[in-house]
Amino acid sequence: ARPAAALPRFLPSPSQSTKAIQSLLGINTAHFGVCPFLWPTSKFRHIQGAVTHRDTHITNLRGLNLTTPGESDGFCVNRHRVAVPLAISGGQIAICERSQPGRLPDTALPTIQNSVNVVDLSWDPFDAHRLAVAGDDAKIRVWQVPKGGLKDTLTEPEVLLQGHTEKIYSIAFHPLASGLLASSSYDLTVRLWNLENGEQVNLLTGHEDQIFCMAWSPDGKLLATLSKDGKVRIYDPRKSTAPVQEGPGPEGHRGARAVWVCEGKYLLVSGFDSRSERKLSLYSADSVSSGAVASTDIDTSPSTLIPFYDPDTGVVILSAKGETRVHIYEIVPEDPYFMECSSFNSPEPLKGFAFLPKSECNVRDVEIAVGLMLTKAAIEPVAFKVPRVKKEFFQDDVYTDTAVCWEPALTASAWLSGSNGQHKKISLKPKDMTPVSEAPKEAPVRKYLPSSVYLEEKTDEQKKEEVRMSSHLVCRDDPPRSRVSLMCF
Ligand SMILES: *[C@@H]1O[C@H](CO)[C@@H](O)[C@H](O)[C@H]1NC(C)=O
Repeated sequence: ARPAAALPRFLPSPSQSTKAIQSLLGINTAHFGVCPFLWPTSKFRHIQGAVTHRDTHITNLRGLNLTTPGESDGFCVNRHRVAVPLAISGGQIAICERSQPGRLPDTALPTIQNSVNVVDLSWDPFDAHRLAVAGDDAKIRVWQVPKGGLKDTLTEPEVLLQGHTEKIYSIAFHPLASGLLASSSYDLTVRLWNLENGEQVNLLTGHEDQIFCMAWSPDGKLLATLSKDGKVRIYDPRKSTAPVQEGPGPEGHRGARAVWVCEGKYLLVSGFDSRSERKLSLYSADSVSSGAVASTDIDTSPSTLIPFYDPDTGVVILSAKGETRVHIYEIVPEDPYFMECSSFNSPEPLKGFAFLPKSECNVRDVEIAVGLMLTKAAIEPVAFKVPRVKKEFFQDDVYTDTAVCWEPALTASAWLSGSNGQHKKISLKPKDMTPVSEAPKEAPVRKYLPSSVYLEEKTDEQKKEEVRMSSHLVCRDDPPRSRVSLMCF
């Protein structure tokens, strides 16, 4: 018997009244104030998102184009700078340096003049100065921002990528190979480009309608797409121009996003169901044709939830343009798959939310992700922290070695000729911190009553089942990356 089936459904939301759960379990807390039992919850469930100090904000951004297409994140960021499309003719883009926060002058800033409307834009993950911009003229322009930031208006792109016959939906840099870019277009093709020589190196076919998104697998071998034709597809671009896998995708037509999770074992899809309700689904990467292995309903709202995934913690942060609530889940590769954590509410509707590399997290504050939110006229960092008591120790259960995703693992030509690479990994531990796993142990505090107390009102059968369950859950608590924790009411 699967243990999960015997338990009442996992706490779907921290906001759900504990009373309801107690009554579900027939537990009357009136007898003893605190009610003890084991409950699988995310250790990130109390995650706290907070806007960082005013000094870090960039304000007085004027004339932003806040109506970028749904396939685009709306703006893009790296450790050094932010690129935001402006609502001025000629596809102008503002570049803001993160090292120069504060109020921007009222006068016009130097911009990149893309010459045509911007539909999507992305920083090269391995070159903080290189910006790829997809235009509504089917071309991609690659710009080189000078060292220290934009001083004069840029009008000449470094590279021009031509080949698509219709407007572009979105672009996506390869996560490991330098200078390799994918683009999807209204011409229903996906193309790969080698930026070193500006050549189209691959053309993928098979889409029958709008291409909502593209997502590279973490090993850089596969590219997943979602389309309005209702399919999720996986391409192995070096093997075949046709998808190597195809399965039923989200039914809703408003848009969808995907991100690979759990070391590439699953594809997490954020989309809409046939009743336009927002939904998250997990597909096994080996068999997308069998459909989603698990799903969870979120709410009803018209805007696509855009996922950011932190592979080190398994936490996914979902934001939507025009909304204030940011949903957070821990994704685990087995039942219950989705473990909801506290959400973050921004003070103003988001126009975009983009994340920085893990190296930007302040580990002394137990930050696991830092993003920049774009509002009507400002860019403000938001740090997501895990509340911990012994913050003087390095929380090594939260910080596994992290991939150096800002350095390429191989070149585009090496990848194209069949090589694969891996990011090297580094520890985020500052030299002067001791891992919490090596912290001196204190005498354990008994926070819960012995099981005999809460079992007294149960039938013998119930008691047996609960004891079996508890011991099972305790066993699962064994590995260092524990996902089951004690929950006391
Ligand atoms: C903003 O960008 C979109 C996409 O390129 C374009 O269609 C729209 O016209 C732009 N809006 C303004 C006001 O420039």
